[in-house]
Amino acid sequence: GVDLGKLLSQTGLVTLDPGFVNTAACKSDITYIDGDAGILRYRGYPIEELAAKSNFIEVSYLLIYGELPTQAQYDEFADRIQRHTLLHEDLKQFFDGFPRDAHPMPVLSSAVSALSTFYQDSLDPFDQNQVELSTVRLLAKLPTIAAYAYKKSVGQPFLYPDNSLGLVENFLRMTFGFPAEPYEVDPALTRALDLLFILHADHEQNCSTSTVRMVGSSEANLFASISAGINALFGPLHGGANSAVLEMLEGIHANGGDVDSFVERVKNKEPGVKLMGFGHRVYKNYDPRAAIIKKTADEVLGKLGANDPLLEIALKLEEKALADDYFVERKLYPNVDFYTGLIYKAMGFPTKYFTVLFALGRLPGWIAHWREMLEDPARKISRPRQVYTGEAERSYRSIGER
Ligand code: ACO
Repeated sequence: GVDLGKLLSQTGLVTLDPGFVNTAACKSDITYIDGDAGILRYRGYPIEELAAKSNFIEVSYLLIYGELPTQAQYDEFADRIQRHTLLHEDLKQFFDGFPRDAHPMPVLSSAVSALSTFYQDSLDPFDQNQVELSTVRLLAKLPTIAAYAYKKSVGQPFLYPDNSLGLVENFLRMTFGFPAEPYEVDPALTRALDLLFILHADHEQNCSTSTVRMVGSSEANLFASISAGINALFGPLHGGANSAVLEMLEGIHANGGDVDSFVERVKNKEPGVKLMGFGHRVYKNYDPRAAIIKKTADEVLGKLGANDPLLEIALKLEEKALADDYFVERKLYPNVDFYTGLIYKAMGFPTKYFTVLFALGRLPGWIAHWREMLEDPARKISRPRQVYTGEAERSYRSIGER
């Protein structure tokens, strides 16, 4: 019951904790992680059970509303999302302004930021109807935006959403289909992408989610807060890691597949050489999401007919690292991104696009945290302190005297 923050601020004491390694910024009911035991639960449900039995829409509902939906609640939620997939026609022109080789992440965050200008009837964080509307709009429109960003990058025409399809199928069709041509969505592919979205859907106070909460704490609207989260996810140490893993595997492959010498370079801490997809701030054990993905990667790659030499390199790397003192001592295990890139590649997504898929998966988590933060009666604007290390007071000298 002691409010430590209040107590400390009364004493004038400031704690310094770079990277917030030990500092909790909030209380949350959404996701439980035990990093030592490798446990992850959404609203109490083990990730393994959700991965095996649920789907992304249901998991989104669970994260945002706290309980699994009844059939009626599920149908209404899915139906509302289905009816909001279209983008405002003028928003389409937005994509024309970007260079064709633009990275899709800033395209995504810019388009989401622009939603604040197109949907001004859902910006009030304290009007419940508007919050529901912006929630549904984001869940429905982000896949459309993501597909448009892809089409723009490959110079192909945009496809309107087909609302007879589910969210993931619709996204795959808009991404890989062509206008006026039938596109058969492979159910194995749909299920695999749905599963990857479930596994990425929330991960408590990671960098992008903390960003969403922080921006939202100023009472910025949901679109603005999510746009900031997408930009946080863009960095290579966070959402960019899935692309970086693939680039690393391709680099090893191009060098004749020499895993041993690569691991030596990592251990020698050559600048810029890390075992990407390994290590995690919270997990000091096997990331439970990586365990699920590893099991499905083989299956999915097999089903998609991909016989990827990079998978073999990944398996060798993992085996070698798990038996090596450098990694064992530092408790470095594969994280969720170690295998996802291989699956995305087999599905036909270009490397640059992987982080966009992470954003699609993480969206319900961001929304759930933004809503929880605003509903918290103890809510305060996020405003960390600092320990000043600059100059003591000194006098201004005019420019000619310096
Ligand atoms: N390869 C080699 N060494 C590593 C790695 C790695 N991937 N990760 C950590 N280490 C080493 C560090 O060099 C450090 O060694 P030292 O004690 O000798 O200095 C030690 O392990 C501890 O690492 P920190 O950097 O202090 O750990 P931190 O919690 O700050 O970083 C992070 C976590 C950013 C995930 C890091 O492990 C990393 O950069 N991994 C690679 C990138 C990656 O896969 N990111 C995805 C994260 S998961 C996600 O966003 C979905």
